[in-house]
Amino acid sequence: MNKAAELLNSEHTVIMSVVNAMKESGIYSTADDKMFEKSIRKLLDFFRNYADKYHHHKEEQILFPEMVKKNEMLEDGAIKEMFENHEDFRSLLNNIEDSVNIFNYNKAHSLLQRYAESLLDHIAVEDDEVFQMMDTLFSPDELDKIYFRFQDIDNELGLEEKHRWENVANTFLT
Ligand SMILES: [Fe+2]
Ligand SMILES: [Fe+2]
Repeated sequence: MNKAAELLNSEHTVIMSVVNAMKESGIYSTADDKMFEKSIRKLLDFFRNYADKYHHHKEEQILFPEMVKKNEMLEDGAIKEMFENHEDFRSLLNNIEDSVNIFNYNKAHSLLQRYAESLLDHIAVEDDEVFQMMDTLFSPDELDKIYFRFQDIDNELGLEEKHRWENVANTFLT
């Protein structure tokens, strides 16, 4: 795997570890509203900041546009679907937050489960299909440039904050 794909892939691993921990914790069916409220706020924070700000940002600002430049067909195909998924994820997070704010925990549980399952599907498509195209679409030089631009994003947003999210990712549900 090229370094640029590796970086995105390592972020997927962090995101998936949180999603798997959610499933194991029984958070989708918990009757403990206080615990749920506490965990869900931390999870919303993680998905908005780490998954969306650090990760989806790289795909949307850099990788996907560069892929479309190489193959216009992707614009209405796989890449369009990936952009739409990201939008759906953002509105799902907003809907989860709204449900929690009006104490509709049942709705929040089911929306959270839908979010988690769609996110895993999305990650699988990227890992198995989208990132696989990178080596054929780009030259090694172009892949290096993409990797450096990814690093720029991490530096701009803050590398320390990124690592902080990675270190606390497994503590949201405890
Ligand atoms: Fe994505
Ligand atoms: Fe991704």
